[in-house]
Amino acid sequence: MTDLKSKIQNQKVLVTGGAGFVGHNLVKTLVNQYQCKVIVVDDLSNSSLDLLSDVKDSIEFHKVDVCDSANLFPLFKDVNYIFHLACKQISSSGMEPNVHLRVNAESTLNILEYLRYHELPEFKRFIYTGSTSIYGSSVKLPVNENDAPDVLSNYAATKLLGENYTSMYCRNYDIPVSIVRYSNVYGYGQTPRNPYTGVLGKFVHNALIGETLKIFGDGEQTRDYTFISDAVDATILAAVHPRAYGDVYNVGTSVETSVNRLVELVSGIVPNVKYESVPERDIDNIRRRSIDISKIHKNLGWAPRFDIKRGIEETIKWYRTTLTI
Ligand SMILES: NC(=O)c1ccc[n+]([C@@H]2O[C@H](COP(=O)([O-])OP(=O)(O)OC[C@H]3O[C@@H](n4cnc5c(N)ncnc54)[C@H](O)[C@@H]3O)[C@@H](O)[C@H]2O)c1
Repeated sequence: MTDLKSKIQNQKVLVTGGAGFVGHNLVKTLVNQYQCKVIVVDDLSNSSLDLLSDVKDSIEFHKVDVCDSANLFPLFKDVNYIFHLACKQISSSGMEPNVHLRVNAESTLNILEYLRYHELPEFKRFIYTGSTSIYGSSVKLPVNENDAPDVLSNYAATKLLGENYTSMYCRNYDIPVSIVRYSNVYGYGQTPRNPYTGVLGKFVHNALIGETLKIFGDGEQTRDYTFISDAVDATILAAVHPRAYGDVYNVGTSVETSVNRLVELVSGIVPNVKYESVPERDIDNIRRRSIDISKIHKNLGWAPRFDIKRGIEETIKWYRTTLTI
């Protein structure tokens, strides 16, 4: 069977948030594996160009705010795909709700409106990267795409709004779109210099520099952790697959992993890991999460290739070889 993802080979692709954690991995895959002509748009508010240094001569970079339509829209000329990843992170969402609304949702609406009124003859798909945080503290696990959202943060509210605009513009105006909903992505390039890095990135970094890992609460809270290569793979597949047109797909593993288990796995690779329990935080305070991925498996033929153990091994390898700690 031919690899459907090869449809993106040599295409002109624009990635917003392309200097960020997921974005720079997507950009590198598009450049190195699929020889795409990639335009990266990022205001560098939560990233730097460091992680793109090895592809810097193969990409076109624009330091542009995604809400700055006057400077963003001219970059859409002749593009085949737009991956819209630029976002504000969940951990800042209580402090700056209006910024979240603007970046996570309004920018999406602006791009979709542009696509509605402008003929881009070569345009194939707009891909929105949603978040499984919209499921909140769903009592039914694993959660599937048809389960009701349970919005518990400004971040989740704005990510869901961005999704809703995206699917509505497909239904009402035939804009070709796909939506992926990621669950706790981790792996290469989740730099500890980024204050919003997720728990796994922090654990791995702190373990390697001999700092104590902080376990919030009893450590039995679970998440469904997705390795970065799997998330990138699912995203490219959703961009090109005919059955992803106008649809939304969970991207995860269906496996619940507790914080205590993460500590155990990191301790199995890094010697003498120290850890301590600290009081629970009030950010993303959800007890359990696991994501049903049967829809993406059945319709797009996608399945994760990395389980949590292998993903953590890869992450630790990356930190050891790439970061000057
Ligand atoms: N990482 C995860 O676990 C996860 C989980 C669910 C959903 N997502 C989604 O995936 C996408 C990428 O997330 P990430 O983890 O790579 O985040 P990230 O913060 O590492 O990357 C986001 C990028 O967007 C840029 N950005 C922020 N505001 C901008 C603006 N106004 N204009 C231009 N650029 C701007 C930042 O500088 C950063 O480089 C987001 O849409 C996010 O909601 C990520």
